[in-house]
Amino acid sequence: MSRDVNSGPAQPTEPGPALSVYDAIRMRRDVRAEFTGELVDEDRLGRILRAGHDAPSVGNTQPWDFVVVQDRNTLATFAEHVAGCRRDFADSLPPERRETFDPIKIEGIEESGTGIVVTYDPSRGGANILGRHTVDDTGVFSAVLAIQNIWLSAVAEDIGVGWVSFYDEAFLTDLVRIPAPVRPIAWLCVGPVSRFQETPDLVRFGWRDGRPLSEAVHRETF
Ligand SMILES: Cc1cc2nc3c(=O)[nH]c(=O)nc-3n(C[C@H](O)[C@H](O)[C@H](O)COP(=O)(O)O)c2cc1C
Repeated sequence: MSRDVNSGPAQPTEPGPALSVYDAIRMRRDVRAEFTGELVDEDRLGRILRAGHDAPSVGNTQPWDFVVVQDRNTLATFAEHVAGCRRDFADSLPPERRETFDPIKIEGIEESGTGIVVTYDPSRGGANILGRHTVDDTGVFSAVLAIQNIWLSAVAEDIGVGWVSFYDEAFLTDLVRIPAPVRPIAWLCVGPVSRFQETPDLVRFGWRDGRPLSEAVHRETF
């Protein structure tokens, strides 16, 4: 069966490296300190963005956009803003939590060299979105699925991703000139890494442990 390449799922520019989806899920980490400082190459970046764009979406609205930011001044401006938000959070903590939080790095904005701002457009697809008439959040859920595709495909490309949410939405909207009613959903730091940590940073630094699967799985009722 022939398929219109402009409307169907995209073909990758070339096959990416072989890694099972389970391997990618297991290896994926939120990367902050392990960026090497090199820039992600365009082929890899293209395949990672392609993977994001191939995500499922409510009513097939594809409500995301991806703003790729590599300008050093923009990265520095955003990093400074995020540092202020980090300070505000630290100041809000009781003393013993603050002590635990202080050594935890929460971003690699400048070291990664590339930011991908993932946005959500609630107006994409018009008024009658198949599947969003009952649960409006399904629009944002769709944009987040694009992020997860980016995160996992980056692992397959040996590229690290770190999600930064320590920002004021209005600030980021203004910084990368996002038009209303589009919202920024995430700033992703993207770049080559020296390694992927085996244990999540928040566990390693004693901020919060994971919970066992058996606690998360319920049968028949919650
Ligand atoms: C919605 C969302 C927002 C996040 N925001 C931040 C952030 O601002 N800074 C940060 O260091 N990590 C952030 N993270 C990463 C989480 O801390 C991380 O996923 C979690 O601790 C588990 O670690 P892992 O991703 O390495 O498995 C965010 C993750 C999600 C899903």
